[in-house]
Amino acid sequence: MTGPSAFERAAAEYDAWFDAHPVLFESEVQALLLAFPEAYGPTGRWAEIGVGTGRFASRLGIPVGVEPAEAMAAFARSRGIRVFPGTAECLPLGNESADAVFFITTLCFVADIGRALAEARRILVPGGLLVVGFLPRERPLGRRVTEDPPDAFLREARLLSTPELLGHLRHAGFEVLRTVQTLRNFPMPETVEAPIDGFGRGSFVVIRCARPRLIGNLSMQS
Ligand SMILES: C[S@@+](CC[C@H](N)C(=O)[O-])C[C@H]1O[C@@H](n2cnc3c(N)ncnc32)[C@H](O)[C@@H]1O
Repeated sequence: MTGPSAFERAAAEYDAWFDAHPVLFESEVQALLLAFPEAYGPTGRWAEIGVGTGRFASRLGIPVGVEPAEAMAAFARSRGIRVFPGTAECLPLGNESADAVFFITTLCFVADIGRALAEARRILVPGGLLVVGFLPRERPLGRRVTEDPPDAFLREARLLSTPELLGHLRHAGFEVLRTVQTLRNFPMPETVEAPIDGFGRGSFVVIRCARPRLIGNLSMQS
């Protein structure tokens, strides 16, 4: 039998990482903002799945989260996020209830990615956006995490390569609109890095995609 996840056992330690690594955190935030500039405007019907301690959600103005580890959720609630207990594979949110859904370094912890993406699609309105931030397995940081995980949290991760994730997203019916990358200066940038478009150079990648609108037999971009 496996015990509680590292996220349940050591939420405070997880949360403290952000204070110890402000340049990394802010570089990732900048990449998310380039992929999702809507976050500069008023908050919408947005939900982060695997919201953790709510660091990204509170920074990006995401008002709702879903999180299986109660210890993590308690931190997110203290940051003003409305958190529902649950998992990505069985979301406690209604059909077409969200305009944007986020997975930020969470899909690598999800047991059934196909099911998680089908659930994200279910809760998105047609034309709604899915934003995925992740550590691609093929880049130096991802390789290090895969070969020699630096902490108990990352020992539970099964990182995906960018082509694998793009394949999952397209298979789930999402239309890939844009990719953004940062953390090109592995091991660590000394100052906040300006993100650039594309993937293949950065150790943190963001994919923006959409649940297509269906018009007759034609699928239309939002
Ligand atoms: C690396 S943390 C990321 C948290 C937050 N998104 C962030 O970037 O700080 C991964 C989170 O995914 C959650 N998680 C693990 N399995 C999950 C699942 N099946 N569905 C949703 N979340 C899950 C963990 O409890 C943890 O809070």
